[in-house]
Amino acid sequence: MLSLLVVWHSASGATRALVEAAVDGASDPAIAKAGRLVEVRVVEALHTGVEDVLDADGYLLATPENFGYMSGGLKDFFDRIYYPCLDHTRGKPYRLVVKAGGDGAGAVGAVVPLATGLGWRSVGEPLVVRGEVSDADLDAARELGGSLAAGLALDLW
Ligand SMILES: Cc1cc2nc3c(=O)[nH]c(=O)nc-3n(C[C@H](O)[C@H](O)[C@H](O)COP(=O)(O)O)c2cc1C
Repeated sequence: MLSLLVVWHSASGATRALVEAAVDGASDPAIAKAGRLVEVRVVEALHTGVEDVLDADGYLLATPENFGYMSGGLKDFFDRIYYPCLDHTRGKPYRLVVKAGGDGAGAVGAVVPLATGLGWRSVGEPLVVRGEVSDADLDAARELGGSLAAGLALDLW
């Protein structure tokens, strides 16, 4: 079985709502019918460890933009896993979800170089949600989660 690791942080719930929609999309039973089974593991960033990352076949990262950067929770995650995982997770696919008040560029610009440094492959544009989370945003998150998991299941990435 393949494993998709969802690493997220949310202080006031908006990012969490997007993560829940993405997980819903990734858990669509139609994906397993079309390809290999993908286990979706959802772990809050502060509780995600090196073994979680090493064991996963792909990653979904989700963070609010705080002070023009990724959240402290996701930064703590990268601080702990970066060197132990360097050269052990190269080539694995990832997607990024950012919830921001503005354009989210600071958070995207913070996460992408670290993911790139780890050798993770971006398999789609970051989803940046600005302002209130709308139904369309939740649909976009669902679609992102579904496409990431389906790509794993079908060996596309
Ligand atoms: C301490 C703090 C700092 C923030 N800094 C930024 C920022 O630099 N840029 C931005 O676009 N939004 C900023 N915001 C807004 C958050 O990104 C936004 O409220 C987001 O929805 C919070 O996500 P959450 O509900 O998942 O915690 C900030 C919010 C807080 C609480």
